[in-house]
Amino acid sequence: MTADRLPADHSAAAAATRRARVSWQDRYPRLVADVLSALGRAEGVVFTTRLDIAVADLIEALATVYGEASDIAALCERGVRQALAAAAERPEELRLLDRRREVDREWFQRQRMLGYVCYTERFCGTLAQLPRHIDYLAELGVTYLHLMPLLQPRPGENDGGYAVIDYRAVDPRLGTMRDLEDVATALRARDMSLCVDVVLNHTAREHQWARGWLAGDAAYADFYTAFPDRDLPDAFDATIPSVFPDRAPGSFTWVEAALDGVGGWVWTTFWPYQWDLNYANPDVLLAMLGEILWLANRGIEIFRMDAVPFLWKRLGTNGMNQPEAHAVMQALNGLVRLAAPATVFKAEAIVSPEDLVPYLGGHERYRPQCELAYHNQLMVMLWSSLATKEAQLARHAVGRMDPIPPGTSWVTYVRCHDDIGWAVSDADAASMGWSGFTHRRFLNDFYSGRYDGSFARGALFQQNAVTGDARISGTTAALCGIEDALERGDAAGLERGVRRLVLLYSVIYAFGGVPLLYMGDELALLNDRTYLADPALAADNRWTHRPWMDWTAAARRIDPATLEGRVFGWLRLLGATRRDVPALRGGADNVMLDVGSSSVLAWRRRHPRSGHFVGLANVSESDSILDLAALSGLGRLEPVLGSDPVDVIDGRLRLPGLGFHWLAEPCGHPGAGEPAEWWWTR
Ligand code: GLC
Repeated sequence: MTADRLPADHSAAAAATRRARVSWQDRYPRLVADVLSALGRAEGVVFTTRLDIAVADLIEALATVYGEASDIAALCERGVRQALAAAAERPEELRLLDRRREVDREWFQRQRMLGYVCYTERFCGTLAQLPRHIDYLAELGVTYLHLMPLLQPRPGENDGGYAVIDYRAVDPRLGTMRDLEDVATALRARDMSLCVDVVLNHTAREHQWARGWLAGDAAYADFYTAFPDRDLPDAFDATIPSVFPDRAPGSFTWVEAALDGVGGWVWTTFWPYQWDLNYANPDVLLAMLGEILWLANRGIEIFRMDAVPFLWKRLGTNGMNQPEAHAVMQALNGLVRLAAPATVFKAEAIVSPEDLVPYLGGHERYRPQCELAYHNQLMVMLWSSLATKEAQLARHAVGRMDPIPPGTSWVTYVRCHDDIGWAVSDADAASMGWSGFTHRRFLNDFYSGRYDGSFARGALFQQNAVTGDARISGTTAALCGIEDALERGDAAGLERGVRRLVLLYSVIYAFGGVPLLYMGDELALLNDRTYLADPALAADNRWTHRPWMDWTAAARRIDPATLEGRVFGWLRLLGATRRDVPALRGGADNVMLDVGSSSVLAWRRRHPRSGHFVGLANVSESDSILDLAALSGLGRLEPVLGSDPVDVIDGRLRLPGLGFHWLAEPCGHPGAGEPAEWWWTR
């Protein structure tokens, strides 16, 4: 690879694309014959049709990354042959799933979709225990289960499992690959899809690829990147921000054994034991493709593509969101879908709002890339709104985002296993007359509880002495004021804390796309400090908000007089109600509304199959009066669900502090266009 990975040369890529298209024609007849003989006529024709549809995008994506150096048609053929081998091995039940999903292409956009995110060991101990907790998930309306990293990690410190040594094995503490397949099957029998992380930016330094590379094994040549001296590392570090500035500043780690034992600076964007893969080497792309295809055949339906913005490095940039990083994802997506079209990719791209939509394929033209992506901006804006008690910044920042491609959806969330980084752009802050830096600092002060009058009990994560930046850890309940109120025995504060938590979930459940419920939020679990006793975890305070499931607290969920009963009851109701509101399907965009109150976040949406929907959320602690004229032209809206009774006088709606309403036009049968329940898996 060239050390500085020069800017994508579009004319070279275009020339490589043209050459590859011609060469593809020569390869095609033999390939098709092999497809038909491997899969038989019926499956073979289907595979070839997928290939015909995908190949132009595939060639273009590969040419964007490898245009100058490689024979693109030959590379494409290698990828297709890997997909063919996986298709030939794909279990019958998963092939049926492929069939259904190619008919029902909007499956992941339906309003029935609702995710739950948990660590296997913290939720239920082992994979073998998981099936007995499916009823619990079903109570919440869950149709998608994201089990946090569970592929075999390095021993000791492993960044919560994000340092993998074997993508084809499960962490032995959780069980076996067979157990994982059984979990996938058990979930599928209950209409639920399994989501698993693919850590594709880096492997653990103990991974076989890394060991082979260090040992000079030709099969792994150029799998990683090392520099003999500090020249280029210093040049890259000058513009690439550190992800973990306190204990792992910079993006490089000195490794004695690198470069044939001479020693070198290995690229390590995250922790020193996470070595970045070198996607400039096409063998890396194909190796990772092999792992994903293999996992797809184990029954994983949703791949959470970890840290995708970092896949490509370029001198003079922040090292994120480069065109080649997108093209790598497009190539992987196109190739995986040849063999396993029942699967979708979810991009973990925690980037600024203008950089987000391209991960869903929204480029100058649509390019299939990831079907799902985290709506990081909505999450940040919700927390910002609760702290400032006003919703104008959120309305502005979310409202100005580009629409997403129709065949894709947001994944909306309140909390995840990571810290909250304040992706508030300077331009958006300026539109409110604020300084971006000061506002971000205010949010850190507020959520770490240092700000006078703050209700939050979070902790600062990765304070950067140089830039003054920091991020926030803490559970939803702690950040919403529940922990503080409980400790102070403040009943009114507790009431407000519960309303805040429900308010946040009322927004993400009604924003369209797939909402994710983060384990423990349904029971308002508080910050967990047990991690401090474990030396492999103690230095990373993100474990504060990765609590152990409290099944005793969960047992109280049936008692509405308890905190757990109240919060669980609300989340169950939000989930159940959402199922009957077709406007909440993905595949339609939101329009942010001005309803005459600066403290109310208001949005409308309408799916082509539905009537209008309006969501209202009062982020302040006092009543807001809304002008219903702002909703004229949206049909006969009726209340669907709300935190409080509807209170309208003279065309004005009074929305109590921290209250929400969902309004929708009635529209006949809410299940129109939906397939029947999945009887076929039983
Ligand atoms: C993602 C994960 C985060 C991890 C990082 C490195 O951002 O969400 O937890 O530290 O990738 O793998």
